[in-house]
Amino acid sequence: MANYDKNFTDELRTRLSIVDVVSRRVPLTKKGQNYWGCCPFHNEKTPSFSVNEDKGFYHCFGCGEHGDIISFTMKSENVGFVDAIKELADMAGMKLPEFKPRDPKIVAREESYFDIMERAATEYQKQLFTPAGAVALEYIRRRGFTDDMIKKYRLGYAPKNNFIANKFVNTRQDILIGTGLCRRGDYGMYDFFRDKLMFPIFSARGQIVAFSGRSLDGSEPKYINTSDTEIFHKRKTIFGFNFARENIHRNNRTIIVEGQIDAIQMQCHGFPETVAPLGTALTEDHLAILCKANRNIVFCFDGDNAGRKAAVRAADIVLPFVRDDSDVRFAFVTGGKDPDEVLKNSGTDAMRAIIDAAENLTDFLWNTANNNYVVSTPGGRAQAEKFLKSETDKIADVALRAEYENEYNSRKFNQWHKWSRKPQATQVAVPEIDAITRNTLVFITNKFPEIAERHAEFLAKLNISLDGDAPDMNMDARAAERYITSLKLQNYLKKLREQKQKLTTDILHGDADDDARGRISAIDSEIAKYTEKLEQMISE
Ligand code: UTP
Ligand code: MN
Repeated sequence: MANYDKNFTDELRTRLSIVDVVSRRVPLTKKGQNYWGCCPFHNEKTPSFSVNEDKGFYHCFGCGEHGDIISFTMKSENVGFVDAIKELADMAGMKLPEFKPRDPKIVAREESYFDIMERAATEYQKQLFTPAGAVALEYIRRRGFTDDMIKKYRLGYAPKNNFIANKFVNTRQDILIGTGLCRRGDYGMYDFFRDKLMFPIFSARGQIVAFSGRSLDGSEPKYINTSDTEIFHKRKTIFGFNFARENIHRNNRTIIVEGQIDAIQMQCHGFPETVAPLGTALTEDHLAILCKANRNIVFCFDGDNAGRKAAVRAADIVLPFVRDDSDVRFAFVTGGKDPDEVLKNSGTDAMRAIIDAAENLTDFLWNTANNNYVVSTPGGRAQAEKFLKSETDKIADVALRAEYENEYNSRKFNQWHKWSRKPQATQVAVPEIDAITRNTLVFITNKFPEIAERHAEFLAKLNISLDGDAPDMNMDARAAERYITSLKLQNYLKKLREQKQKLTTDILHGDADDDARGRISAIDSEIAKYTEKLEQMISE
């Protein structure tokens, strides 16, 4: 075992939440004081594995396994003490103290990788200020990079020739290849990055583990990144995290943008808590790392359709990490293609307005459901409902999931079913009539065609036709006219009462317009007027 400072492991235990550590492997649900899940150390279907956040340990009532974050990491990942400590330190963003290396050969190799990356970055930096790098330097300055920024982010230039292969000619080739900087071809070693503007990619601890190279001549792809190596795992590396981490803590949130230039410009213009994934895809690993640092996240996407789609993908990944005290928001960039453009064209305040206007997760999912499906139809509502359910199902915290469901149920009731509750003044509903009324109308239609003509529309709605079987009745033209008119009046009054009832329900549910009360009193006076007319007709 390594000669660790006990202070260091204690520090790890205080800095890391055991719930966070365990829930990377085991979905946990809070019940009472503890969190519960299915034990990863024996086979079970009902959870008997409990985690106590305050005391920092887990215990399985099924198989008796128990321990803390370190033993959990060792057992669940089948690694030794040193590796477990390393991983936990990484998670906590802490620097490892000196320890006896487990395998001197591997560590030496990693050290030489870091060393080569460091030296390569320095060489690239120098190249930026030579005539060869003039185009790159001019380009990056045009994009608003000051010399201080160039220095801080250690931007550089990879020349057209096999610069690194030549510079490191005395380095072992397998080591050089292991860094991803060089490859072996038919004609010897060649550089992976040629004629690129170089962005070093730092680990959380600030070591250079990879590079991202931007093409300068408009050639595609726009960016190429170092492929995964022993020291670089693209899915787990977050651009800008090493610079942002303290600010994430201080500002109590993380802003995630799509591009690395965006991340740099954000960090330098008022949003030091900004990071970006590498390449466009945000992974579960990225979020696991970020959520450990802070669970308040503002995602920042392009304002176009692709941006909203990317936002849904991000929501899918973030939902399992959401807790009842997380604040996850989605901002959509307007007034420019990306944050870099907004900052350049309109400045920090414009960007702040975009961030401040971010939709919270609840609203974002709701709005997405409403935008993507035609919720004015039952089919569209069913689709939207399925979408909402599939999203809320991803929330691990049971109580929180239930609250999301409640929230959406109430929105569905208040907002969707408004469609069917909206008063439709112009629409004349088809009245329901009994057999006697129908017979009377058939009689009138056949006996008094000129009266039927005047009320043709109304009679047609009732499916009364001329060639119906006409019963004989004792009724003159005047009575026939009054009969139909009164029927129409009754139908209209019924309609008015329905409208009034709907408006009243809306008011009671709290989702009526401002003028709903005004409309009710208008309906009331209509009802009074037509009731009077009807009574007059009857008394005549
Ligand atoms: P964008 O195409 O939005 O580029 O890709 P950008 O960040 O605005 O780049 P600039 O401003 O033109 O320089 C967003 C991110 O996707 C990744 C990069 O990480 C980029 O920052 N990407 C993009 C690639 O990895 N490869 C590509 O070819 C393009
Ligand atoms: Mn851009």
